[in-house]
Amino acid sequence: MRAFSYRYGPFPASSVVMPSYQLTINGTPQVLEVDSDMPLLWALRDVLGLVGTKFGCGIAQCGACTVQVNDVAMRSCVVRVSDIAGQSVRTIEGLADDGGLHPLQQAFVDHDALQCGFCTPGMIMNAYGLLEGEKAPSRSRINDAMEDNLCRCGAHKRIVAAIESVAEKMAKEAKS
Ligand code: FES
Ligand code: FES
Repeated sequence: MRAFSYRYGPFPASSVVMPSYQLTINGTPQVLEVDSDMPLLWALRDVLGLVGTKFGCGIAQCGACTVQVNDVAMRSCVVRVSDIAGQSVRTIEGLADDGGLHPLQQAFVDHDALQCGFCTPGMIMNAYGLLEGEKAPSRSRINDAMEDNLCRCGAHKRIVAAIESVAEKMAKEAKS
């Protein structure tokens, strides 16, 4: 198990005793010694160096920071590390298996479902949650589930098409 320490503020590190929280990040147990108010997004990016998860708005409005916490999509900019102690977090870095792309990642490539790519990790992690919960969501269901994840490049149609292609493949596999 690895331990990481991080603090806010100008005090010398030796003068501040941080609480510690255990989380499982992408399958690996970690101990984080961080301020109790630290948002999960900060811990992922600044403490653990998992910079795939993006900072967009910081107020739960854009979805760029979406990760899975205990298999539920959450906006990591407004979830405090202290609130999810003991739980499991999956980020975009934890999606690929054995070096290969996850089917959702591959579908985004195949459908050219990104331009700048800034929204992409959040989009994929939100879609991952949808497909874990529903094996054959319709296009309108996908639209509903993804509408609060914002893409400034206007790639939404291709994003929905990519997710739909994975949903269709999963539905076919379930029937065969
Ligand atoms: S950065 Fe978290 S929702 Fe925008
Ligand atoms: S691809 Fe640029 S914000 Fe979505």
